[in-house]
Amino acid sequence: MNRTSVANEHSSVKELIAVTLGVAASDGAGVKLTRIIGAGEVDMLDPFLMLDCFESDNPNDYQAGFPTHPHRGFETVTYLLEGRMRHRDNQGNEGVIAPGGVQWMTAGRGITHSEMPEQQDGLLKGFQLWINLPASDKMTAPAYQEFPAEQVALEQHDDGTVIKVISGVTDRGTSGPVQNHYTDPTYLDVSLKAGATFTQSITFGHNSFVYVIEGELQAAGRSLSAKQLGIFGAGEKIELLCNLDSRLLLIAAKPLNEPVVRHGPFVMNSQAQIIQAVEDYHSGKF
Ligand code: CO
Repeated sequence: MNRTSVANEHSSVKELIAVTLGVAASDGAGVKLTRIIGAGEVDMLDPFLMLDCFESDNPNDYQAGFPTHPHRGFETVTYLLEGRMRHRDNQGNEGVIAPGGVQWMTAGRGITHSEMPEQQDGLLKGFQLWINLPASDKMTAPAYQEFPAEQVALEQHDDGTVIKVISGVTDRGTSGPVQNHYTDPTYLDVSLKAGATFTQSITFGHNSFVYVIEGELQAAGRSLSAKQLGIFGAGEKIELLCNLDSRLLLIAAKPLNEPVVRHGPFVMNSQAQIIQAVEDYHSGKF
């Protein structure tokens, strides 16, 4: 039996439609990072505007951090694997996350914040994901949710699989702490042992991808290695076969199918709204 006939018999299993590598980039006050979505081959994957991975044990690569800067029109999600990061914003929110912690900020109509490493040395590693907001909610009030590792839901299987659920629901019913009705996102951190299989249903019509942090996997017969992004096509579920002990992010959300006009930290639906955002920011309305 060849792969094509297997795929036909199990047509509800999603196939990988693209496998890419991120590109080296720099942001904030010169933090070195890899841009996985938002540059290179993947400009965006609606509603995901950007996915960055920062990873360095050289303080010169990260110490300058992301000093105070504005955002309007979308959400930023920071998930830390190693190190400590402090968030402070002009709405009175402040907090430090450690490994396994998540900061979920809804910029809405406007917020200014800083994101600074809370360490002088050692490894800093994590992700920042930008999720677009629907046109109807771009000017919503800013909001901030923070969850330490202990509040992120944990699911463990007999075969050694460990799933940290930040948002969404696993196939076994574990729900993450982040509630989000804008794009109904699923955000899972999945660790798998070699030989394990993992299945996750995805809401019909949602866009979905995996990013392999370490290890090697197969999805619908196509292999995915460390630091690769795999984007899935249509279907009902993602099925992963794990070749080597692996860790990955599995992320999905509802596409907005609306015009996207970006200008640095502002993401709106029209050029006029961008001009307004810049004006509002400079006149102190954030
Ligand atoms: Co920011």
